[in-house]
Amino acid sequence: MCGIFGYVTNKEEALGPILIAAAERLTYRGYDSVGAATLNSGKIDLRKDVGKVDSVAAKYNIAEMRGQRGITQLRWATFGEPSQVNSQPHLDSNGDMVGAHNGNVVNNVELRLEFMAEGMTVRSQNDGETCVHAVERYISRGYEFIDAIRLAYGDLEGDYAFVIGRANDDKLYAFKKGSGMVIGIGDGFTCLSSDLPSILPLTREVIRPQDGEIVTLWADRVEVRSVKDGKIIQRIPETVTESMDAVQKGGYPHFMLKEIHEQAQVARELIHLLDGSPDVQPLVEKMKNARHLYLIGCGTSYHAAAVGSVYIAQLAGLTAIPVLAPQFIAQYAPAVGYEDVGIFVSQSGETKDVLNALEAAEKRGMACFGLANVVGSTLTKATSFCLPLCCGYEISVPATKTFTNQVVTFLYLAYRLAGKDTSELLRIPELMEQTIEMVGPQIEAIAKDINEWNDMYCLGYGATYPIALEGALKLKEITYAHCEGMLSTEFKHGPLSAVSKGFPIVFVAGPNDVPLIISGINEVKVRGARTITIAEEDARLRANGDDLVVIPKSDAQISALLGVLPLQLLSYHMSVLRGFDPDFPRNLSKTLTVD
Ligand code: AGP
Repeated sequence: MCGIFGYVTNKEEALGPILIAAAERLTYRGYDSVGAATLNSGKIDLRKDVGKVDSVAAKYNIAEMRGQRGITQLRWATFGEPSQVNSQPHLDSNGDMVGAHNGNVVNNVELRLEFMAEGMTVRSQNDGETCVHAVERYISRGYEFIDAIRLAYGDLEGDYAFVIGRANDDKLYAFKKGSGMVIGIGDGFTCLSSDLPSILPLTREVIRPQDGEIVTLWADRVEVRSVKDGKIIQRIPETVTESMDAVQKGGYPHFMLKEIHEQAQVARELIHLLDGSPDVQPLVEKMKNARHLYLIGCGTSYHAAAVGSVYIAQLAGLTAIPVLAPQFIAQYAPAVGYEDVGIFVSQSGETKDVLNALEAAEKRGMACFGLANVVGSTLTKATSFCLPLCCGYEISVPATKTFTNQVVTFLYLAYRLAGKDTSELLRIPELMEQTIEMVGPQIEAIAKDINEWNDMYCLGYGATYPIALEGALKLKEITYAHCEGMLSTEFKHGPLSAVSKGFPIVFVAGPNDVPLIISGINEVKVRGARTITIAEEDARLRANGDDLVVIPKSDAQISALLGVLPLQLLSYHMSVLRGFDPDFPRNLSKTLTVD
């Protein structure tokens, strides 16, 4: 969801290649426009447009851009359609300053009107431009630059990170509210970015500014000041030890395929971590004693919560209510209290819908816990404790390894709630490896066979129902086809009329649900559907359906988890066959920091 990067050095140099490389590393966040600005000796060079990094860079020869400071921004349109004028960075009225942001300024419309009334030149609808004018307003009223920024911070409402530079200067200035931002300190340069992966190849010395802090970047140092009183805050840089492997494709054609193959390993690491974590037992006690237990998330994370609620019911006989975060606010938040427990689930830990639900729950005194992948994200800080998903970076927009680790966490918690021996779960990683190996070629062939279809269904029951929802989401997300996930028994209540000859319907059958799924298969087959069933080897399923995609033998809960792997692979292969980039589907963003 938009990304910014800034770079400061001590003399004019070729910044174009540095900015392009940083922009490439931000692409996983999702974007539709690209821009770059360099600043040097009173001049600003600004080039930007709608399109991919490589095409915009080639069209405007960004590689040749030189300067002493540089800013690049990838924009995912929220305020203003994707267009050249709405692309970032943006200039102030006179072209003396340039800035860019990521996130959302929610009072953008009101501020733009104020700026126009004050006589400023407002060129776009974009809220990044509003940030620049917010500083300009106070400069033209005679304030010092740093004070103008402090006052602008107060005027700009929302969740965002912002960087700005002046032509006649040797620094960049940055601040953030709600969104993440990382400052890097290198040898002869400093830099900043919306997130860590884009600066890791440059330096490992970082500072993570907090809300309410303004950072000034020189080539050889940074200074952090409080927005409130302008006083300097001492911050010691930390050394990041994370591996760069995670942000490289490691021989795979796409991050998604790499991340699918990493699932067994990250599940192994997670189970070991949970076994040794002192945080698990207190969480289990809270869950057990809750008046109501809510599992809250969005998209894929919600599907993991829904699988978790089935596990908790099946294994521990407890009710956990899975709920989409915005609906939690409308439906449950008004009634929750301190006796209730919520587990907020999110890969990024920054999803605005989830954070809004958390805020609503906390206002009512509910006990709030987290389950997040990105360590240091807002969710990890805002909850009393947050279990990590231990997946490392997930670059590809479609979530894969974080989903399976969310499901593994819930299975682990269900085991602990039930007093079952969690060492039984140690077989999961190997079963995952076997699944990928067993289904690989068959799934590729099925992907080719059904690729012409732009309508599909994915059906499941019990624990495989949310797995079917997740499979359908993956298929929609990266093939751009319409694919609906549904409870298998619901299909006859309406959607059955959509079935025509060859219509593809995927069933995910748990080992205890085979007779029920066979009914479903026959209902659609007699009407011409082509059925693809993901299940353990079963002669009855083989006799009744078309393709049977066999996954290893396990139990009802683990089988559901394994069932998602063929669906991830099916969506991946169909996406590639259609000529799309599964890592960066159109219109989508990895981190959704907007309402
Ligand atoms: C998953 O493939 C999607 N990209 C999306 O549904 C995602 O799960 C959702 O936006 C929630 O994100 P989060 O887990 O970071 O909160």
